[in-house]
Amino acid sequence: MSTSATLEPMAEMMDEMAESLPTTIDRVVLTGFMGSGKTTTGRLLAEQLGWNFRDLDSEVERREGRTVPQIFAESGEAEFRRLESAALASLLGQRRLVLALGGGAPEVLGNRLLLEQTPRTAVVYLQAPLETLVERCERAAETGETERPLLGEAETRLRRRHPLYDRLADHKVTTTALDVEQVCEAVLVKLRG
Ligand code: S3P
Repeated sequence: MSTSATLEPMAEMMDEMAESLPTTIDRVVLTGFMGSGKTTTGRLLAEQLGWNFRDLDSEVERREGRTVPQIFAESGEAEFRRLESAALASLLGQRRLVLALGGGAPEVLGNRLLLEQTPRTAVVYLQAPLETLVERCERAAETGETERPLLGEAETRLRRRHPLYDRLADHKVTTTALDVEQVCEAVLVKLRG
């Protein structure tokens, strides 16, 4: 066996260790307002850790066979919240999971209790000022990437939710001036303590 053939698996192992988390963490849950970067950060974080990634909105859409805007328009927010809570409960049993919540999930007390009581789960709040969040969401709406039925209520919703995100969080990262790689790195630094 050549030297490089013996060294390559070791180099891979060291790479993996470099991206690993403390063994006390089985799940990373990203929370924060619409446009805070939960989905893009979560996807990259999961890739770097070699873990699974799930997005709560996509999970609701997959289980329901309807898009989030369709559910809001046809069944209303209360029904969307029920579907969201059911999807959350079903996902939290998984290990080696990075989960991006929907921005409104922490408004529901049952969701907050579930997150607080699920062991080995690190909750990270991705925060940014209202103007940045709204700007990002408007851009996503213009490009047809994501339509957000509650964007018109951004100011009142953020005011109501910020203390909830804050209290739920084990760690907080301000994403304002950061690109997705930098946010991901900042999250990893916090999680490794
Ligand atoms: C919502 C946020 C959305 C989605 C739905 C409602 C909210 O998720 O769940 O449009 O209440 O803030 P994102 O935070 O991923 O945009």
